[in-house]
Amino acid sequence: MSHPTITERLDDPAEARESGRRKIDWARQHMPIMTAIAERFGDERPLAGETVAMAMHVEAKTAVLTEVLAEAGAEVAITGCNPLSTHDDVSAALDADPAITSYAERGVDDEEYYAAIEATLDHAPSVTVDDGGDLVMAIHDEHPELIDSIRGGCEETTTGVHRLRAMDDDGALRYPMFAVNDTPMKRLFDNVHGTGEASLSSIAMTTNLSFAGKNVVVAGYGYCGKGVAKKAKGQNAHVIVTEVEPRSALEAHMEGYEVCPMAEAAEKGDVFITTTGNRDVIVGEHFERMDDGVVLANAGHFNVEIDLDGLDDMAVSRRAVRDGIEEFEMADGRRINVLADGRLVNLAAPVALGHPVEVMDQSFGIQAVCVREMVENGGAYGPGVHDVPDALDEEVAEIKLAAEGVEIDALSDEQIEYMGSWQHGT
Ligand code: NAI
Repeated sequence: MSHPTITERLDDPAEARESGRRKIDWARQHMPIMTAIAERFGDERPLAGETVAMAMHVEAKTAVLTEVLAEAGAEVAITGCNPLSTHDDVSAALDADPAITSYAERGVDDEEYYAAIEATLDHAPSVTVDDGGDLVMAIHDEHPELIDSIRGGCEETTTGVHRLRAMDDDGALRYPMFAVNDTPMKRLFDNVHGTGEASLSSIAMTTNLSFAGKNVVVAGYGYCGKGVAKKAKGQNAHVIVTEVEPRSALEAHMEGYEVCPMAEAAEKGDVFITTTGNRDVIVGEHFERMDDGVVLANAGHFNVEIDLDGLDDMAVSRRAVRDGIEEFEMADGRRINVLADGRLVNLAAPVALGHPVEVMDQSFGIQAVCVREMVENGGAYGPGVHDVPDALDEEVAEIKLAAEGVEIDALSDEQIEYMGSWQHGT
């Protein structure tokens, strides 16, 4: 039997659809880039006859991207890229569109999660859009027969791009993929500001606690870590950064943050936020040193940054103390609170809304033009990971500036000549 859609799984799909529709409409109202792209795509129908499979965080902003791809002429099949980040009402609203089938559902177990990925692939996609690489992995591992008819795909996040580059290095990636994450229009805004704002607001709403006066430990000072650290500082926290990369550590130091190893930070922190994309960043030796009542949250893609199995082994008991917070009690009576099962807190906490709408307008603007590029020119890109052509990133930046009413200067011919010459000196 084929995997059921969200509509088939909900008790009251009509009510869910209505609520989801309101969320999507609100997001769309605040997405000028997607609105402009939708107008173009609606006229030109660049995706007519294509089938797009998506595995993404299914909430309102993603829904706008999904609808815009459908308005461009594609049939779209979508599922989640994390078992806790789906908004069922949004998923149901999408599934009501005849051009869209949604299998995304919140709170599914591993088996259902992967069955939904399979169901999405049953639509025989010509383009894939991933956030974390699950579709690409499933296609290469389980359905290599689909590869010949896939033009290409797009990857949204750092961890997904890392996975793809590792595949590419091994010669295992068999169709072209755009590293959407790596574009300036995505990474400098989404990873930095989006993750910073959304993670802190999700933690604040989940705990109802303040950051002011607290020691906030940020593990990893990459794009996401920079945003989290900056916003935490802006909320009057004392920020402590842990790193493994000397230049990133130095950058954090020069920004005025305290930098130290996690073993030391563990003794000082009140709130810990991991943003490394790595595993085992907070483990047993760190849990041992933490104060009573600390709050641990992860903003990286997978739930492996905090060693929850290790924490469970050390704890004498665990219980839900608030929606989205699990308290682990240690033998000596200290309590360690983990948010959202260690899954990315800005999307998986019960109150999480994901990144601000404006930020995702940019990220998904890039996704939309990249899907169009794969359809129109996919043949020009061989199997492997490709940087998004700069012209596409600029196209989206120009739409955004126009929408914001911001004008900029243009280079004169003399300036272009000067910048391109090695013969000019003092
Ligand atoms: P990045 O590569 O720019 O930064 C990661 C940083 O972590 C690097 O500076 C690295 O040296 C450091 N690091 C690695 N292992 C470490 C360890 N054991 N201890 C301390 N530092 C360590 O990556 P970016 O773009 O900041 O992404 C980080 C993660 O966040 C990825 O998993 C990415 O997919 C995810 N992400 C999450 C978002 C969200 O909505 N929560 C949005 C965008 C990305």
